[in-house]
Amino acid sequence: MAARVAAARAVAEALTQSRPLDDRLAAGAAQQRGGLDARDRALARSIATVSLRRLGTIRKALARRLDKGLPRRSGALEWTLIVAAAQILFLDTPDHAAVDLAVKATRADPASAPFAALANAVLRAIGRDRDAILTSSDPLDDDTPAWLAQRWRTTYGESVARLIAAAHRAEPTLDLSVKRDAPGWAERLGGIALPTGSVRLDTHKPVHELEGYEAGEWWVQDAAAALPARLLRPGPAMRVVDLCAAPGGKAAELAAAGADVTTVDRSAERLKLLAANFERLRLTSEIVVADALAFEAPPFDGVLLDAPCSATGTIRRHPDVAWIKRPGDLAPLVKLQAELIDKAITLARGGGAIVYCVCSLEPEEGEAQVAAALRRNPDVRRLPITASEIGGLAECVTQAGDLRTLPCYLWTDNPRRSGLDGFFAARLVKAGQRD
Ligand SMILES: C[S@@+](CC[C@H](N)C(=O)[O-])C[C@H]1O[C@@H](n2cnc3c(N)ncnc32)[C@H](O)[C@@H]1O
Repeated sequence: MAARVAAARAVAEALTQSRPLDDRLAAGAAQQRGGLDARDRALARSIATVSLRRLGTIRKALARRLDKGLPRRSGALEWTLIVAAAQILFLDTPDHAAVDLAVKATRADPASAPFAALANAVLRAIGRDRDAILTSSDPLDDDTPAWLAQRWRTTYGESVARLIAAAHRAEPTLDLSVKRDAPGWAERLGGIALPTGSVRLDTHKPVHELEGYEAGEWWVQDAAAALPARLLRPGPAMRVVDLCAAPGGKAAELAAAGADVTTVDRSAERLKLLAANFERLRLTSEIVVADALAFEAPPFDGVLLDAPCSATGTIRRHPDVAWIKRPGDLAPLVKLQAELIDKAITLARGGGAIVYCVCSLEPEEGEAQVAAALRRNPDVRRLPITASEIGGLAECVTQAGDLRTLPCYLWTDNPRRSGLDGFFAARLVKAGQRD
C-alpha cells in the first residue's frame, strides 16, 4: 500500500508541479524516502515510471470508462486510478490486488472516499478490457504529448517519429562506461560489449551490487552519452575543461583517458555527486563551482560543453520529462546554450577543440544551434565527426558531420538491449595555433 501511495504522489507531483520523479524517488534522497524501505521504493519507482511512460494510454482508458468524467473535488482519486490502471495494464500485479488497494487508498482519502465504488467499477472494467486497450494503443498518438509528436513529425518525418515513440515504450538498458576491457566486463557481468565501447546489461540488480562497482572499474552512462567526450580526443598532457560537468559521466571519460581535467558546474550540490563519483573511480579533476559564463582561466586544449537542455532525448529513461516540459521551455534554453557556446569558444586556445552536446531531440538545441554559432563566430570551423570515431555507427553521423543519435537506433530483437539516448554533438575547432 505504501509503495502505491508513494507512486501516486510522485505521479501527481510530476504532473501538477513539474517535479521530476528522481527528486522524489531517488534512492539516495534520504529526506524524501517517506519511510519506504528499499524494496518499496523500487516498487514505487517502477509503478510511477510505467504510469508516466504509458500515461496517454492510461488516461484514454480511464476517460472512456468515466461516463461523466473525473468527479470534481475528488482529492487524490485521479492519481490513485492512474497508478492502479498502470499496475493492471503493464505490471504483473493481479487485477484484484490492484483494485482492492486502489479502493482502500480511495477510502483513506476523505475527498476521494465517496468515489470508492466508482474506482472499483472503472478499474474492474479496465482489467476486463485489457487486451483491447493494449492493442488499440499507439505510441505516438497516445503516449507522446501532442506538441512533441508534432515536432518530431516535422523534424524526422512520420516513420522515424513513430520509431522514436515506440522506443520510448521499452524499459531502458543499463549501460556502463568502463575504464578498460569492455569485452571482459561484458562477460563478467553477463552483458554485451557494444561497438561503441560501452557495456550493455539488462539486469534489475542495484548497480552497487555489481562486480567492479566498489573497485571503480566503471560508471553508469548511456552509450550515446559516452560518445561526445571522446570527440575531444583526450589524452595525457591535454588540458581540458568540462563547463557543465556534474554529475561527471563525461568528465570521467576525459580523466580516465589521462587528460588534466577542470570540472565546472554552477550547482555545488551536483558537484558533490561528481566528487563522490570521481573518488569511487579513483580519478581526479579540479572542481570549480561557478557559472560557466563567468568562469575565467588560461585557454584550454579542449572544451566540453554538455549544455543544459530540454532533455527530450532521455524520455525512455525519464518518461516524466515528456509531461513536465512545455513548448515555452525551449526558447530560454536555446538562448543560454548560445551564450555558453560563445563562452566555450573564448576558453579554447588557438587550434583547440570545442565539443558541444545536448541530450535533446530538438533541432533548435542541436543542429540549428551549431549552425548559428558558426555564423556568429568566424574564428571557428566544424571538424566533422567520422563513423570510425563512434564505433562505426554511420547512421549517427549527419551530412554536416555532427553526431545525432535517436532512441530507435542500435535496435535489436531484444528491446531491453536496444536503443540509445537521443543526443546531438558537434565538434568545432578554433582558428590559429597553440598560443
Ligand atoms: C546535462 S547536465 C551535465 C551532465 C554532465 N556533463 C555529465 O555527463 O554527467 C547540465 C549541467 O549544467 C549545469 N549548468 C546549467 N547552467 C550552467 C551554467 N550557466 N554554468 C555552469 N553549469 C551550468 C547544471 O547544473 C547541470 O549539472
